[in-house]
Amino acid sequence: MAKKPNNVTPWEVTGEIDYNNLIDRFGTKHLTAETLQRMEEHARGSHFMLRRGVFYSHRDMDAILDHFDSGGDFALYTGRGPSGPVHIGHLVPWIFTKHLQDVYGCKLIFQFTDDEKMLIREDYDAEDTWHWVYENALDLMALGFDPGKTEFIVDMKHSSKLFPIALKVAKRITWSTMRAVFGFGEESNLGIIFFPTMQIAPCFYESERRGEPVPCLIPAGIDQDPYWRLTRDTATKLGYPKPAQIHNRMLPGLTGDAKMSSSQPETAIYTVDAPEAVEKKLLEAFTPADRDNCPLFLFHYFLLTESDVEVDELHQECTVNGKSCTECKNELVEHVNRFLEAHRRRRKLMKSRVERMLE
Ligand code: TRP
Repeated sequence: MAKKPNNVTPWEVTGEIDYNNLIDRFGTKHLTAETLQRMEEHARGSHFMLRRGVFYSHRDMDAILDHFDSGGDFALYTGRGPSGPVHIGHLVPWIFTKHLQDVYGCKLIFQFTDDEKMLIREDYDAEDTWHWVYENALDLMALGFDPGKTEFIVDMKHSSKLFPIALKVAKRITWSTMRAVFGFGEESNLGIIFFPTMQIAPCFYESERRGEPVPCLIPAGIDQDPYWRLTRDTATKLGYPKPAQIHNRMLPGLTGDAKMSSSQPETAIYTVDAPEAVEKKLLEAFTPADRDNCPLFLFHYFLLTESDVEVDELHQECTVNGKSCTECKNELVEHVNRFLEAHRRRRKLMKSRVERMLE
């Protein structure tokens, strides 16, 4: 069967994604065994997402590790467009970011791009996005980030933290670059054309705040990479350290799509889905002939089953012992619901903390 054409931009991920091809296209590097070993030494153990290549690509990770080894500090930066409930695909990079915060003891800057969502969604206003900022922040903090080392930046509310930096950035980027990097055209609204400078600004926020160069490392899905290519060019012009990145593969959708998508509820399991909804979606999920790429197996591989022995057993049961998809789905329903129940318990406990963090 001919492959569907793929398209990976910050606003659209469609078709089958060839992750190795993205490395070539975006000019990033594979995480090598040596880099992984350095990270394992720091962590005193290997993280399953690194071991399994869920995080697989990077830029300048070695420079960050060198900086750390020589006693330097760096910041982590990631974010979320608050357009709806969080699904479990979103948790993949966040869980790994929390691991990095634990290992390297660094500050996390977490951006909520409510401006972006307001600008690209016809039906959105500031009140909708604020609701989702709060809800999504609960999901984030439920993963155990250190509140004393985590700073939320909600673009519309905290614009004064970013706007002066965004302007410096904007001054160094031309319209023709924006058009080439993001595919903007005559029909693009003025706000969204400026917006990328707001997503770039947090890369330089710690350096500005402390008045000295503070490198930053961005763990994120590879679909966000266009921002960072542009950021790196601009950093040189403005005298800031170039941000480093570490990229994850995206959890595929339940209907066979390349990525779980918030805007297509049937492709995704939300953290707030009731047990019955989880059951319905999983029982109806698409299971392909290519079992290594079965979305149900990838749930275990990317997120739910940390033990290599257990994940190998699951693979064997399917490929060698011929376990039926229905049986596998039923077990997965139980597993996902247990996972979500525990997540929601932690989420509830975070309410007053998150309210304070969003002030
Ligand atoms: N634009 C991202 C989204 O739509 C949100 C985001 C903002 C982000 N800053 C980031 C994602 C930094 C990764 C890293 O989801």
